[in-house]
Amino acid sequence: MERECLFSGKKVKVGVDSGYDNYIMAIESSCDETACAIVKNGREVVANIVASQIKTHEKYGGVIPEIAAREHMDAINIVIDEAFEQSGLKPEDITAFAGTVGPGLVGCLLVGLNATKTLALVYDKPFIGVNHLNAHLCANYIDTDLKPPFMALLISGGHTQIIDVESYSKQTILGETIDDAVGEAYDKVARLIGLPYPGGPKLDKLAQIGNPNAYELPISRVEGYNFSFSGLKTAVLRLVKRLKDENGNDALTESQVNDICASFQECVSKTLAKKLKKALQEKGYQQVVIAGGVAANSEIRRKIFEFENEGYSVYAPIMKYCTDNASMVASCAYFNTNTFDDVDVEVFSRA
Ligand code: KG4
Ligand code: ZN
Repeated sequence: MERECLFSGKKVKVGVDSGYDNYIMAIESSCDETACAIVKNGREVVANIVASQIKTHEKYGGVIPEIAAREHMDAINIVIDEAFEQSGLKPEDITAFAGTVGPGLVGCLLVGLNATKTLALVYDKPFIGVNHLNAHLCANYIDTDLKPPFMALLISGGHTQIIDVESYSKQTILGETIDDAVGEAYDKVARLIGLPYPGGPKLDKLAQIGNPNAYELPISRVEGYNFSFSGLKTAVLRLVKRLKDENGNDALTESQVNDICASFQECVSKTLAKKLKKALQEKGYQQVVIAGGVAANSEIRRKIFEFENEGYSVYAPIMKYCTDNASMVASCAYFNTNTFDDVDVEVFSRA
């Protein structure tokens, strides 16, 4: 599509129908990762830089928004410089600058989005605002030849959605969580059993050595394609209390922790896979994708990749493109997946 250069107002073609090689630089700063990337034609990553703040937030057991925003300020120019360096490209070579608009932490988003707008203005290139959730889905275009239509399961720290992706720009949310997001449930359960932040990946690791059938946990019975994970979280809380009482020393044994992880992971992955399969069958699609930070989860990936035995094509980003990164933002801008074109667009916190 035709887009306007920010300073001169000159019109240039950008994106999948532009007819020439595009190099889109993107910035992502919605939570605790400051990231900058350059992607060729939406699929080929030529630079991918991520500055993680995990070390900073670890001691607080979660992300502190004000501290996160300050760290983005410190890191933003560095990740931009490194992306140019890694790619060997100059600002003049960039087709357009893209940045995450939301959802996310407002103070954090402001840092990345203002940097994006500034780059577009200074180098007189188009600006493209991107929705973080759509960007997660677009991570599946990287290094693949995936084209819509497909069914998508988006699972992150803030969202759990089944999305019918009819075309690059037309998507319909078929169902979502009515309470906690999957990632949130992982992080809360991890904290309950004493695992340090960020709990999701640690819980996943221990689950792999535990017994998934050790404890029976309730699978939520929510209508249609919606999900609920708060009941499961409460069930784990009760289980932990009971086990600690039985142990008589206010602590869980190592094998109990591993078994809780495995049983929780089994319950969550079963629920997600079941509803995703139903959506696929109902719509008659042959392709299915998973996306978002929790798509890095070993058991969720395993259960959904099993769909391949029934003839479905399954896509999941490699680990570094599952969690927050800027390559997915560049890809989203290239395929024009529900982008914001107005440079006056404001950051937003909730979807
Ligand atoms: O997409 P993301 O990087 O940030 C958001 O946009 O929310 O997702 C972060 C979430 C966190 O809740 C984290 O615990 C979870 O993804 N996560 C995992 C795994 N890796 C990251 N959850 C379960 N298993 C994993 N291996
Ligand atoms: Zn994310």
